[in-house]
Amino acid sequence: MKAVVWHGIGEISLDDVPMPKLEGREDAIVRITGSAICGTDLHFVRGTMPGMRPGTILGHEAIGVIEELGPDVRNFSLGDRVVVPSTIGCGRCSYCRAGYYAQCDVANPNGRDAGSAFYGGPASTGPFDGMQAEYARVPFAHTNLVAIPPGVTDEQALMVSDIFPTAWFGARLAQVGPGDVVAVLGAGPVGQLAALSARMQSAGRVLIIDGNADRLETARLQNAETIDFNAEDPVETVRDLTGGIGPDRVIEAVGVDAQHPDRPIGEDAERAFALEQVAAAPETNPHDGQWVPGDAPSQALRWAVQMVAKAGTIGIVGLYPPGFDAFPLGTVTNRNLTVQAGTCNHRRYIPRLLSKIASGAADPTTVITQQEGLVSAIDAYQAFDRREPGWTKVALELT
Ligand SMILES: NC(=O)c1ccc[n+]([C@@H]2O[C@H](COP(=O)([O-])OP(=O)(O)OC[C@H]3O[C@@H](n4cnc5c(N)ncnc54)[C@H](O)[C@@H]3O)[C@@H](O)[C@H]2O)c1
Ligand SMILES: [Zn+2]
Ligand SMILES: [Zn+2]
Repeated sequence: MKAVVWHGIGEISLDDVPMPKLEGREDAIVRITGSAICGTDLHFVRGTMPGMRPGTILGHEAIGVIEELGPDVRNFSLGDRVVVPSTIGCGRCSYCRAGYYAQCDVANPNGRDAGSAFYGGPASTGPFDGMQAEYARVPFAHTNLVAIPPGVTDEQALMVSDIFPTAWFGARLAQVGPGDVVAVLGAGPVGQLAALSARMQSAGRVLIIDGNADRLETARLQNAETIDFNAEDPVETVRDLTGGIGPDRVIEAVGVDAQHPDRPIGEDAERAFALEQVAAAPETNPHDGQWVPGDAPSQALRWAVQMVAKAGTIGIVGLYPPGFDAFPLGTVTNRNLTVQAGTCNHRRYIPRLLSKIASGAADPTTVITQQEGLVSAIDAYQAFDRREPGWTKVALELT
């Protein structure tokens, strides 16, 4: 079968690989009908989330049809149409039972303290082969598949595999409540759906910050007030727009590939960001303007801490590698801030988000800008990585 394979930093290709097989009684094999490229995948190819094992199939977002089932998967039938949640839980440990699927005690073969288990990620996350492929193995399939209800389209269901639940989780971490003024850092697919989620969780106003004009334009579809950090100082602007108080809640949807504005920021700041960059990504492989890491890893975190109102809350869903420690804790303490962060417990939110979509209460497909075949996946990765205008979220269609 065909799959997108990670060979090294800056080196991915579409390869012929062996078909996955059932390995345990609780496994399923899914024929993938739709996958997608995520900002998380970019971290792996740029080297900003280190530790990938060569030969790993990339991708953690998918919908598909059940092709094979192990004997201990009793809640599905062959041919069922399903969403695959990005993170993997066992469905039986105390963490899964409490809804903390991303901290499952069992699913990660590296042990209960190794962090979240998910598809297409570094060795420390499994590794599990990913979803940018024609077929995939899903462990603990009774828990790690969710049936797609009638009335939900393939494109809608695909957005529920990772980015909509992650965005929803970001708004929960930020404790968004009725009337709140919410700022979202990052107008990528996750940030735009975080703006939608904040509104659905009763925010009064939603502001969104990015440096890409085309992404800010689409963010207005979520009725978000847009701020271009290359055109104006985002912290000052957010303060001005919120009566000098700042937003009650901030959702950080940027991660380690954060950038600073494209104006001079001073030698000291440049030097500090350069050190952070080397610590976060010891090995990189930029070439031909491709796979260039963000130049300011802690920039979005710093803005979040500076712009939020005193005693406000920050929810961080942008990803940072395990050793990353450049966080402005002094300011957090000084301003009585609450900070929550994490990998999404996808399985916890997927059923109810599917219901909301089926009822017409939400449509997450506004972020999809391209529908490509798997054969065009590498070109699509390159355009998405270069931030070509109009390339926000690539859905990969498989026939
Ligand atoms: N926690 C989770 O479970 C989870 C799940 C999915 C994605 N993620 C992470 O969420 C983040 C966003 O994902 P995505 O797919 O939207 O990625 P993306 O790369 O498409 O979008 C990131 C956006 O941030 C913008 N940006 C860069 N520097 C900025 C700054 N200083 N301030 C504001 N915006 C800035 C970029 O211009 C870009 O539009 C990534 O780090 C991804 O790994 C986390
Ligand atoms: Zn993703
Ligand atoms: Zn578990």
